[in-house]
Amino acid sequence: MILVTGATGNVGRQTVSQLLDAGTDVRALTRDPASAALPEGVEAVRGDLADPASLDAALDGVESVFLVWPTLSADDSAAAAVARIAAYARRVVYVSARGVSDDLERAPGSILGSHAYLERLIRPSGLEWTFLRPGGFAANTLMWAAQIRGTGAVRWVHGTAARSLIHERDIAAVGVRTLTGTGHGGAAYELTGPQTLTQIEQVAAIGEAIGRPVRWEELSPETARQQLVGQGMPAPMAEGIISAHAQMAALPETVTSTVEEVTGAPATPYHRWAADHADDFR
Ligand SMILES: NC(=O)c1ccc[n+]([C@@H]2O[C@H](COP(=O)([O-])OP(=O)(O)OC[C@H]3O[C@@H](n4cnc5c(N)ncnc54)[C@H](OP(=O)(O)O)[C@@H]3O)[C@@H](O)[C@H]2O)c1
Repeated sequence: MILVTGATGNVGRQTVSQLLDAGTDVRALTRDPASAALPEGVEAVRGDLADPASLDAALDGVESVFLVWPTLSADDSAAAAVARIAAYARRVVYVSARGVSDDLERAPGSILGSHAYLERLIRPSGLEWTFLRPGGFAANTLMWAAQIRGTGAVRWVHGTAARSLIHERDIAAVGVRTLTGTGHGGAAYELTGPQTLTQIEQVAAIGEAIGRPVRWEELSPETARQQLVGQGMPAPMAEGIISAHAQMAALPETVTSTVEEVTGAPATPYHRWAADHADDFR
């Protein structure tokens, strides 16, 4: 039995269906089984990672756990949750993030710091572990969907920022291989899509997928920062996002071949991701 956490999210939902396709017994953790809309054949169990005692029912009889830690910064429940998982399971595959390094400190609002902290909790836990360290998700560009549906344009910053975005299906495929195969213990896999595309090229790919062109309208960094803060984002986080985009305009993200090395199939191009999600943008 494999327990998938984050099972209603981008990666977890894919992981659940690919495990089912592989003929594996799957249990899914969710805070609300009634609204989880999981496929037939999956046992949905209520549990909250922020309340480690609530995980026992989901963990009972489980051999491996696919762990998504959804909160921005890991709080003290993380140590108790990892200990709980180690008390029941033999193996964990943890969805971390590209850019994590072992010495990165936990800090408020730091996503990478949170993942580094979780990795440090997992390494000595006694579990056989594998870390998936994906770069940016193609699914992040769903944030443009409302603008595209409403105006046919994307207004955002640093259109030349170039990313090697990854399809959630590929992250899940690597997860399924590591959960059901052998020889992945102690590995930290850096996962990206197969090519680097600028944001302007990503928007053009969405236009192709929906059959009508989508315009790129460049925002100044200051306007974008004000917009994010206006939406309730803490100023340092908004600043971090804008400067990361400036950096990716100066120095495009690199591409890894890990998806193909682990799964035997090349990573999925962004154009294919856009076609898979065309209805979200229509
Ligand atoms: N976006 C990126 O570019 C990127 C890049 C690298 C790494 N990552 C990492 O990927 C992870 C997010 O993956 P995703 O996009 O697949 O997730 P997602 O679509 O944001 O979904 C979040 C999932 O977490 C579950 N969840 C939320 N709070 C929970 C709680 N307290 N207890 C138990 N489950 C909870 C939700 O399930 P219910 O609502 O059903 O409980 C949902 O299934 C994050 O750790 C992020 O840092 C993201």
